[in-house]
Amino acid sequence: MYAKFHSIGAFVPSKVLSNADLEKMVDTSDEWILKRTGIKERRIASENEVTSDMATIASKIAIKRAGLEKEDIDLVVCATVTPDYFNMPSTACVISDKLGIKNVQAFDISAACSGFVYALSVAKAFIESGMKKHVLIIGAEKFSSLVDYTDRSTCILFGDGAGSAVISATEDKNEAIIDIHASADGSYADFLVTPAPGAVHPVSQKVIDEGLNFVQMKGNETFKLAVRTLTKDVKEILAKNKIDAKDIPHFVPHQANYRIIKAVGDALKMTEEQVVLTVGKYGNTSAASIPMAINDIYESGRLKKGELMLLDTFGGGLTWASALLPFAGESL
Ligand code: ACO
Repeated sequence: MYAKFHSIGAFVPSKVLSNADLEKMVDTSDEWILKRTGIKERRIASENEVTSDMATIASKIAIKRAGLEKEDIDLVVCATVTPDYFNMPSTACVISDKLGIKNVQAFDISAACSGFVYALSVAKAFIESGMKKHVLIIGAEKFSSLVDYTDRSTCILFGDGAGSAVISATEDKNEAIIDIHASADGSYADFLVTPAPGAVHPVSQKVIDEGLNFVQMKGNETFKLAVRTLTKDVKEILAKNKIDAKDIPHFVPHQANYRIIKAVGDALKMTEEQVVLTVGKYGNTSAASIPMAINDIYESGRLKKGELMLLDTFGGGLTWASALLPFAGESL
């Protein structure tokens, strides 16, 4: 049995936070943000709109596009670092309930921006082992809930959103996911960290006073490591599978920073048409970034059945992952 990428769906909140808005909040400028990141605007969820709400809408679309009913889903995996609740219940459980999916295994994955490709690898393994037939995988973030909007080095980067996919069993090798590489190096844990709440820093007045509940990033160090790691990782997966970068119609990198994407695309000698770009309109949506980008090319009619995608991502942990796969759903 093989695993195929059966369908995609996404949701973005309606509220737009533009660079001009951020100019009024911190000491920054539209020019600086555009030049250093390529980001023009990002979406921010409303107070009552949480990670599971966005994920539920994206998942309903993905299940419908797969031509399935909610009863067909036998595993729900949600990748997020902005869960509805700190550790219990998992956001996957909340999403399952909101979708009306009963009595199936559901759990979260914490791998920051790499979470969706990590979830893809879990779905592939469950399906290839014969344990599951239709796995709903989700990357969803209300990242704005982790951001200190007085810290100009991080608040300009992140946005909210969700993307979902159904990964299904198939006997047809031509539509199967070809390969996935996923890895981690915890020695770089302090490059991207939310110090609290957790066992190290349980909730306390000190956590509030020092803002330890907000995301902290060593931006420049992360940037350099991201370019090196992403380039090496995609070159390895392409070489291992004897596929030339020029034969990939859709390179879908994690949407953290246009300069990172450009550097990796250039190293692979990719053309502009090959590289999927959504960072300008959505910013960095962490685990939601890759499925939102796939949904973007699907809804614009660029992604056709059978076409190859190369996914490549990098995030807190540090974690990184790449995947080679054909799109096995019906074209729009
Ligand atoms: N506006 C104006 N100036 C700023 C801003 C801002 N918003 N932010 C920082 N600066 C200043 C700094 O203070 C610094 O000033 P100084 O030279 O006087 O000290 C200067 O700009 C340069 O700062 P750098 O941090 O060196 O800028 P850099 O070019 O590295 O860009 C950025 C920063 C955009 C954060 C970049 O490093 C980056 O994208 N890093 C990687 C992000 C990433 O890939 N993360 C992984 C995934 S995220 C996840 O897993 C959740």
